[in-house]
Amino acid sequence: MDAIRWQGNSLALLDQTRLPVEEVWNTYTDYRKVADAIRRLVVRGAPAIGVAAAYALCLAAMEYKGQNPEEFQKSMAAASAELAASRPTAVNLFWALDRMGLALGAAGCGAEALPILIREAEAIHREDVAMNRAIGAAGAAIVPHGARILTHCNAGAIATGGYGTALGVVRSAFTQGKVEMVYCDETRPLLQGARLTAWELVKDGIPATLITDNMAASLMAQGKIDLVLLGCDRMAANGDFANKIGTYGVAVLAHYHGIPFYSVLPSSTIDLSIPDGSHIPIEQREASEVTHFAGVRTAPEGVGVYNPAFDVTPHRLLTGIITEKGVIHPPFAEQLAERFG
Ligand code: MRU
Repeated sequence: MDAIRWQGNSLALLDQTRLPVEEVWNTYTDYRKVADAIRRLVVRGAPAIGVAAAYALCLAAMEYKGQNPEEFQKSMAAASAELAASRPTAVNLFWALDRMGLALGAAGCGAEALPILIREAEAIHREDVAMNRAIGAAGAAIVPHGARILTHCNAGAIATGGYGTALGVVRSAFTQGKVEMVYCDETRPLLQGARLTAWELVKDGIPATLITDNMAASLMAQGKIDLVLLGCDRMAANGDFANKIGTYGVAVLAHYHGIPFYSVLPSSTIDLSIPDGSHIPIEQREASEVTHFAGVRTAPEGVGVYNPAFDVTPHRLLTGIITEKGVIHPPFAEQLAERFG
């Protein structure tokens, strides 16, 4: 299962705004349209945004037909800046753009740079899938037999280069016969849990139960959740992390009920340049995502709206962090620095 395909001279993205009703692939030859697709969540999920942006820079290089190295470098910097402005929270976007910039170096013009950029974007893509497989293998070890797992938002194959982070652990544990049920928070306001996670799990034949976000506490109180696994958009040096809005609430609930709570992420999601979660920029999205449901107004005109796309969970609510380099337990600051510094 995948959502991003490089087609030699164009980029295909599975339109995640249309799932699960229809599976439509859009083709892109203009990097500006990819920036717009990231903004509109056609492609979403921290690692997937990074991969898509890397390919978008290949499209930008293809666009330049001149022979002036300075002009070319300027046009690439402008494309990178436009892509960087698409979404602020997931650090993978900036990580991928930086990595592409380093690969590009001082390459003279589009024709010279293109093969270098394509090779780098494909490497970013391929390495992301490999990291997810390693995450899955490491994470499956902490999943108990007969596990009833709660997840929030979508940290699956389509949120990454392929396979998934939190859902990668679920997939690996499922093949080991350990998963009894995955409860998917529907994840208001944009329903990534209902539309995307439930879709992935059903497609893979993994037992899935959809709940609205306000049902998790009740399930936990009944002893029906053994483990919480969810993704990450940016983790600070001390282990504080941003993830889909509502993650913090799930963390508090898990803590209260004594349920293990893990954030699952590749190293490209770790931002050691910021000491703690207060430095993570949180994306604010349009009011209409909250005042409307499936295009129908559900709130009165004139009401104020608060619509952050992410929240920050303090590291002390984490049981552990599952990465491609294994499972990390507290003290997180030391462990993160040691493995990723
Ligand atoms: O707004 P989204 O859908 O891009 O938010 C996605 C999440 O919060 C995911 O949990 C996170 O990016 C990790 S994806 C492996």
